[in-house]
Amino acid sequence: MDGMSKDGHNARRWQAWQGLALIAWFALLVGCAGERTQSSLHPAGPAAALIAELWWFMFAVLSAVFVLVMSIAAWAVFRRRMDPAKGPAVGNRFIAAGGIALPSVVLLAMLIYSLSTTLSLRMPETKLTIEVVGYKWWWDVRYPDQGLVTANEIYVPVGEPVRLELTSNDVVHSFWVPQLHGKVDMLPGQVNALWIQADEPGVFRGQCAEYCGRQHARMAFHVVALEREAFDAWVAERQPDPAEPATGELQRGRDVFFAAGCNACHAIRGTDADADTGPDLTHFGSRMSIGAGQWPNTAGGLAGWISNPQALKPGNLMPRSYLEPDDLHAIVEYLRSLE
Ligand code: CUA
Repeated sequence: MDGMSKDGHNARRWQAWQGLALIAWFALLVGCAGERTQSSLHPAGPAAALIAELWWFMFAVLSAVFVLVMSIAAWAVFRRRMDPAKGPAVGNRFIAAGGIALPSVVLLAMLIYSLSTTLSLRMPETKLTIEVVGYKWWWDVRYPDQGLVTANEIYVPVGEPVRLELTSNDVVHSFWVPQLHGKVDMLPGQVNALWIQADEPGVFRGQCAEYCGRQHARMAFHVVALEREAFDAWVAERQPDPAEPATGELQRGRDVFFAAGCNACHAIRGTDADADTGPDLTHFGSRMSIGAGQWPNTAGGLAGWISNPQALKPGNLMPRSYLEPDDLHAIVEYLRSLE
């Protein structure tokens, strides 16, 4: 008998260690998960900083409430165990104070704090407006005053608030760059405005935050913050139409682009391709990613994407292309030359 209970004790102790190890592993996973470019707890601009402050305030208050309630509950259980015959330890006054007055004060404080944060997040004066339209499952990005169209990447100048006008072409999406601001819904037929500001140059990952169908999880984008001069240079470099294909190979790539019907969905400024069903490819060669923030924009990745986008992102609207290897090579070279 004695041996049995000792085994049981050991087993329970082993389970406790396993539980602790699991919690430590989760903490490690959550706290140190490599990149922090998509964490609202690592704000990179004033709007996200206000939201993070509110988050920490609520976390602190609610943690205190949790510890308080659990302590009282533990005390009540302990007291009952010591003497089951004991009557209630507290009267109506305690219930009125702890059950009505305290929660009212705590909830009111949090309400006032969040309302004041909302007021502080009002749209400031801005010099730059960018239109972002959600599509299944990518982001159309337009600079109306600069005459630029791009996709899945939003370049902004550092240290300046930028006005974003957000809408959707199909279903409800939600625009969210956790390090720069909270999320805002993108609704078909309505424009919602949001502002973002980055304090330092950097790349901040954004993600659709409203379930929008099969590839919702693969609907990402990046905000790239550049110093003002670098941003102006970025704009200036993109204002002229891309250069004519300089070699026979690039010329062939452009012919393949039209022969394969890519122009039915995509636009390339300076050519006859001006469709807007899919992402604008005018400066595709300088994009960081393909598939809306999914894979690095490499020659191999692009060849795989063009050959069979349905294998990489099932359900997206781009059909397979059945190209001869030489044609595939040429179109990849051509698209990558569009800087
Ligand atoms: Cu778009 Cu989820």
